[in-house]
Amino acid sequence: MALITFSSPLHKDKTVYAVAGSHTQTILALAKEHHIPIDFGCQEGNCGTCLVAKSPH
Ligand code: FES
Repeated sequence: MALITFSSPLHKDKTVYAVAGSHTQTILALAKEHHIPIDFGCQEGNCGTCLVAKSPH
């Protein structure tokens, strides 16, 4: 089990659980499942619309 925290200056931080090693779900899919507002387009890693930055922490 892994914990992933989504942070944004526009929204309250939200931490969700991800199944470690499943390799069946993208971060974008996890975000959508938890109603995290991330823009997206192709959902296949081609357009870059969903690009997010990793926190330095
Ligand atoms: S939606 Fe993520 S790369 Fe296109």
